[in-house]
Amino acid sequence: MDQYMIKGGVPLRGEVTISGAKNSALGILAAAALCEEPVTIKNVPEIKDIEVLLRAMEEIGARVDRSSDGHTVKINAGRVSPLAVDNEYIRKIRGSYYLIGALLGRFKKAQVVLPGGCDIGPRPIDQHIKGFMQLGAVVETKHGMVMAEAEKLVGNHIYLDMASVGATINIMLAATLAEGQTIIENPAKEPHVVDVANFLNSMGANIKGTGTDVIRITGVEKLHGSTYSIIPDQIEAGTFMVAAAATGGDVVIRNVIPKHLEAITAKLIEIGVGVEEADDAVRVFSNGRRGNTRLKTLPYPGFPTDMQPQMVALLTLSEGTSVITEGIFENRFKYVDELVRMGASIRVEGNTAVIDGVQGLTGATMSASDLRAGAALVIAGLTAEGVSIVENVSYIERGYENFEKKLAGLGAVVKKVDSEDERAMRKFRLKAV
Ligand code: EPZ
Repeated sequence: MDQYMIKGGVPLRGEVTISGAKNSALGILAAAALCEEPVTIKNVPEIKDIEVLLRAMEEIGARVDRSSDGHTVKINAGRVSPLAVDNEYIRKIRGSYYLIGALLGRFKKAQVVLPGGCDIGPRPIDQHIKGFMQLGAVVETKHGMVMAEAEKLVGNHIYLDMASVGATINIMLAATLAEGQTIIENPAKEPHVVDVANFLNSMGANIKGTGTDVIRITGVEKLHGSTYSIIPDQIEAGTFMVAAAATGGDVVIRNVIPKHLEAITAKLIEIGVGVEEADDAVRVFSNGRRGNTRLKTLPYPGFPTDMQPQMVALLTLSEGTSVITEGIFENRFKYVDELVRMGASIRVEGNTAVIDGVQGLTGATMSASDLRAGAALVIAGLTAEGVSIVENVSYIERGYENFEKKLAGLGAVVKKVDSEDERAMRKFRLKAV
């Protein structure tokens, strides 16, 4: 198994470029199955979750061509059929459920394996199913598969019980070719929801109001081919902003949309970190001293849940006591025990973490439990005295392109090694002293 070896204590300095947004790409690539003509998608991040989704699309008949650098994908879904989408990989990624909305929307029929739960909570899809049923589909869940079928799909007025990103996108996909108008109330407003709608509209869909409290989708007959570029990943950008602050560094983060980072920027400035904005970049700098804060993760434009673990790692070294409440998922503090093993002082009470700032952390061997938790452990390792090892980096590589290479490009002493490769591990430790 691959792991990262990290020697902490080096302030990050220099420039890093952000890749395309994972949570946009998953919705956009699945949305390509709605269209009989070829589409070209640019700025696709080269990460494992995208690889898995594209393989699943090929299995149901899509023709997928990737550019040599992997960042441009041409998809021809003309010959796609709503065969059961089920393979061991697709079960592991959340984005697979977007194929239900896309195949149901195009063929009025879809059979897709239920994505597994995740370490951050049960991750139900009842709101997705409620939306499909309100459009006229019969939906059954059996043998680990979601089976949806409809004589026809007719627009309806759908009210989401919570601002679910996945349900908002999935209902948009299913309603794009439905008869009449669909209204989604209480939708998610995340930038990636807007990005998926913009892609659909570039193919001739008629979707208005994404990013606001009401989305209106007027069904169209069919879609046409398009070339579209995915927005930058605001969570990857936020992760590097926090890593720069945590190490007391000075980093310019390029290819970002500053508006999408507002909640993160505001929090960093509040605790004394320097943040300067340009049109498509942010500069983050810190002298290493930081204040404490309180925050609760909320749907966009609130503080993003996907930045919660990284923020906790940053606040372990802040002066005073900080309080972070997880407002979206039921079980997103599993990684805290790993930080405590590095000397952090954190108490988790229900969905709240109380963090008492300490002078410093010491390196330890830790295990990533999910994508963002893994990124948080790496950030803690970058600040810690001595060598840290983060295991299960495959979680991290699901959502971060070349993570350790981008960090090394900023001066971090980090290397990906095979945990069986004793020689490589010994060599790193000798070099790191
Ligand atoms: C998306 O997950 C992202 N994943 C998550 O990012 C992100 O944390 C989350 O949105 C919130 O922003 C992808 O886009 C692939 P939700 P999703 O539906 O769509 C409950 C990452 O690290 N809920 O907005 O699954 C749900 O349990 C990942 O990149 C229902 O109860 O999230 C959660 O408590 C982690 N029923 C809350 O709503 C439903 O039908 C928000 O979930 C749907 C959701």
